[in-house]
Amino acid sequence: MTGHKVKIETVVQSLLLWFAGNARDLPWRRTRDPYAIWVSEIMLQQTQVKTVIPYWERWMQALPTIAAAAAAPADQIHKLWEGLGYYTRVRNLQKAAQVIVAQHGGTFPEDYESVLALPGIGRYTAGAICSIAFNQPTPILDGNVIRVLTRLFAIAENPKDKTTNARLWHLAEQLVSEAAISPPRAPRPAPRASFLNQSLMELGALICTPRQPQCLLCPVRAGCEAFRQQRTEELPNLGARVASTARAFQAFVVEVRGQVLVRQRPAGMVNAHLWEFPNVETTGHQPDPVVVFQTVFGVKPPILEPLGVVKHSITRYRITLTAHQTGLGRRPPKMEGQWVKWESLGELAFTAAHKRLAKAAMERERRAGR
Ligand code: ADE
Repeated sequence: MTGHKVKIETVVQSLLLWFAGNARDLPWRRTRDPYAIWVSEIMLQQTQVKTVIPYWERWMQALPTIAAAAAAPADQIHKLWEGLGYYTRVRNLQKAAQVIVAQHGGTFPEDYESVLALPGIGRYTAGAICSIAFNQPTPILDGNVIRVLTRLFAIAENPKDKTTNARLWHLAEQLVSEAAISPPRAPRPAPRASFLNQSLMELGALICTPRQPQCLLCPVRAGCEAFRQQRTEELPNLGARVASTARAFQAFVVEVRGQVLVRQRPAGMVNAHLWEFPNVETTGHQPDPVVVFQTVFGVKPPILEPLGVVKHSITRYRITLTAHQTGLGRRPPKMEGQWVKWESLGELAFTAAHKRLAKAAMERERRAGR
């Protein structure tokens, strides 16, 4: 146990020292505003730092306060999130902003339990906000931190198993608590709980990467059990992945007299509230687009011009979306959706795949000089 305590102390000192000299200069690291940090943490779930930066900048510009986020129209928050995916995140963000206005007078709550009670905020996010914004010694455990800790302590059990997960949370808690109480040895006085948690994130992102970790540059290599045993490649042990399934869809960009048919995805499904072109799943069929078009719209298309093929993955599906474009003399008998002018397409928040189709279709219109 004594050895363990020494190791925790040493690791904390090394991480703080390393973070002081190696932290990336990220825009949300220049503020202690809990709202700004909260927005960054929600965006950073499932999304890489370099993708998030411009989204975060635009969001903070457009909705600089919790009150502004609470009052924003649904179209605006979805447009600001367009392309980030996992749109439940942005709806929960707004719901939570509304709760903060209604229950906390518009000021972000400081106590951990109140933060944890907000929609869309789990144990990790509550811990991240309370430590980064308020310097509280609240632990964090996400994919990055799991990787760092399972390697540092050579934990070979699956980190999703209940007891192992609890053990990892306990280690994360010991580290951040040690940072909060240890005498400041870092170059200058620092919010140590905040920096310790951020150093774990940063180490996982920059050094202790899933493949080919940069152990030679690692500040805690001397204490790393996986490095000593040369087992970094085996850890963390995430168990067998579920196999992914291929699915095929066809989409159509249909124009009638300068207007294009689009529809909004209904509540309760993936990408709810986002816009898309009419499309159907064709998995397992022999997909002649002319036949598919006729089934969807109830008319034969004059010609179908290929617009492109978009491949993307969501959850466990590998999706291939094949798109065609056509112009009709009048609106087809079978259709659902809204007719929108070409110029207005850019105002709608499209799903990532359909945004690419919209761009391709608009580019083609531009080149055709229509
Ligand atoms: N990933 C999750 N939170 C982060 C943060 N605050 N900075 C960098 N990467 C992160």
